[in-house]
Amino acid sequence: MENRLHNFNAGPAALPLPVLEEIKENFLSFRGSGMSITEISHRSAQFEEVLDDAIQRTRRLLNLTDEYHVLFIQGGASMQFCMVPMNLALPGKPLNYIDTGVWSAKAIKEARQQVQEVKVIASSEDRGFSYIPYDYCVDKEASYLHFTSNNTIRGTQWHQFPDGDGVPLIADMSSDLMSRPLDIQPFGMIYAGAQKNIGPSGIAMAIIRDDMLNRVPHNLPSMLKYTSHKENRSLYNTPPTFAIYVIDLVLAWLEDTVGGLGRIEEMNRQKASLIYEVIDNSEIYQGTAEPSSRSLMNITFRLSDENTKERFLVEAKNNGLQGLNGHRSAGGCRASLYNAVTVESTESLAAFMREFEESFT
Ligand SMILES: Cc1ncc(COP(=O)(O)O)c(C=O)c1O
Repeated sequence: MENRLHNFNAGPAALPLPVLEEIKENFLSFRGSGMSITEISHRSAQFEEVLDDAIQRTRRLLNLTDEYHVLFIQGGASMQFCMVPMNLALPGKPLNYIDTGVWSAKAIKEARQQVQEVKVIASSEDRGFSYIPYDYCVDKEASYLHFTSNNTIRGTQWHQFPDGDGVPLIADMSSDLMSRPLDIQPFGMIYAGAQKNIGPSGIAMAIIRDDMLNRVPHNLPSMLKYTSHKENRSLYNTPPTFAIYVIDLVLAWLEDTVGGLGRIEEMNRQKASLIYEVIDNSEIYQGTAEPSSRSLMNITFRLSDENTKERFLVEAKNNGLQGLNGHRSAGGCRASLYNAVTVESTESLAAFMREFEESFT
């Protein structure tokens, strides 16, 4: 399509083109209603159908059993950093966290504002968050063990989730939920800001197990209680209806067009290996994550100096390749290869990286 760039943004990020086209086509009259999806009541049958479809598709894609509830909550993933300890800390029991970088650290900071005993049982800070720390010991009496499944900024990912040894796991899956199949059983809860693999920003998908809801203290503000959102099927107040509509379209694309999470994982592996292969055979690109911890979603690398990096970014942009600058806290470069980034876009990036390197020699 004309004027569309190859989009490697970290979030908000690329959405599937068929989804954007469908939004455009139906924007003025949603399913023949004569009104836009942004103009109809969140309590109308039409919107309820959208919401229900998004929930059912999530249930099917992730193989959720009846004990799990799918919720949509405003405030992005950052709101979950405080809602998780507020709702799910058990009185007198410690919270366990694993620190793999900025997002984990933010979750830990919010937990410390709610609960006295927050233990960081493992951290990869000693080597610049370049790896996933598999060496840890979980407190048997911990309320939960929290970790970040994919470190968007440093480009590391848990390929085997931590073993909670009976303690419920809680994971911030903002940058890899729906990118691979998931065994939900050890999780008390997972959550994700939507703006990477699921939809627009400002909303989080939260999936919570029934027994965790018994922990919610009565005296919390209603909007901050998981029980309010569960009892009202994410319609406690007016939800971001447009965002939920887009999420439903993205999930429909994932389920019906792509063919589910097994298939998307294969595609994500194929894309990531195209770029890691360039890095591993290069004299000028250095991957920043340790190979066994490398993310399939966010590929982080450095060039020899700032001038070369700037030249790389400018030339990439001139070639229609957008969003390759690293996070401001990490520097370097980053290619985010979320579900909606096509194999073709990734091939264009790999080819450009090779050409750029050749122009040096
Ligand atoms: C892993 C992770 N957690 C949390 C966040 C914060 O999400 P939000 O901006 O929706 O609060 C991000 C955003 O990039 C993220 O990558």
